[in-house]
Amino acid sequence: MKTETLLASARAARLRAYAPYSRFLVGAALLTEEGALITGGNTENASYGMTVCAERVAIWTAVHAGYRKFKSIAVVADCVLPPTPCGACRQVLWELAGNIEVIMGNLNEKIISMKLLELLPQPFGSAAWSDNPTSDQLMHSEDMWRVPVSFHPVGHVVNNYQTPQSLPENYKEQLSAIFIDPEMKEGLYRLNEEKKINVISYLHQAQGYTLKDKRSGRGNEVYGVFACRAPLRPNAMAQSTVELVEIRKNILTVRGLDLINGTPVLDIKTVMPQ
Ligand code: THU
Repeated sequence: MKTETLLASARAARLRAYAPYSRFLVGAALLTEEGALITGGNTENASYGMTVCAERVAIWTAVHAGYRKFKSIAVVADCVLPPTPCGACRQVLWELAGNIEVIMGNLNEKIISMKLLELLPQPFGSAAWSDNPTSDQLMHSEDMWRVPVSFHPVGHVVNNYQTPQSLPENYKEQLSAIFIDPEMKEGLYRLNEEKKINVISYLHQAQGYTLKDKRSGRGNEVYGVFACRAPLRPNAMAQSTVELVEIRKNILTVRGLDLINGTPVLDIKTVMPQ
């Protein structure tokens, strides 16, 4: 994975930090050996000392999700010099992630990269962290389906609709672009043979969900979340069937997309022939 991708993920995580007291937002993105990206943001408290840094939120989230091996962590904050992790975070990262690469960036693209042992020479604690018994052996395989899954967007939507409310009623006639990551361009080979495609996306602005509620798209009657297309879902995924108008390089033009500008696209699939 490119450093830029890891930093972009930390930048996005920074916007989800909870820092009303210091107003100093920090984002961290941790890359696991499996290629998953786990993020964290600093999370403050009215009792200031209860505050936890972005790096620890990320590593604890990852460890609890079942990840045990890590490659690198990116940390981003709005400061003149790139943000270096505090001593407590260095100690916690050493225990749980070992001598990983620490990539520190500010918002002006100033970046420093160091190994954790350069930031924390002669650390306290066992260097045999990777030999520690883990709960992995104890985890029953029937429970594995509960382990969080992380996706890496393959592209994003570009159109003029900035909020879900601004999507016009006649969106079915409107054109949108889907920018596919140039690294994934080869995956578009022969897609031009399709008239319609399915776009799988992540509704990045959706917050929270209800399992059963009045559903506007279903005559305001009560339906379960799995019996409708409501955007507020346990996993804010969407599937949109659209007309493929043209493909130029890594940019698809489609008609009828019900997604707003910037929506991360997770996958493009062909429509099942009837
Ligand atoms: N902070 C981090 O999130 N990471 C660091 O490495 C240093 C400090 C946070 C904690 C607190 O919410 C704010 O920055 C000001 O100290």
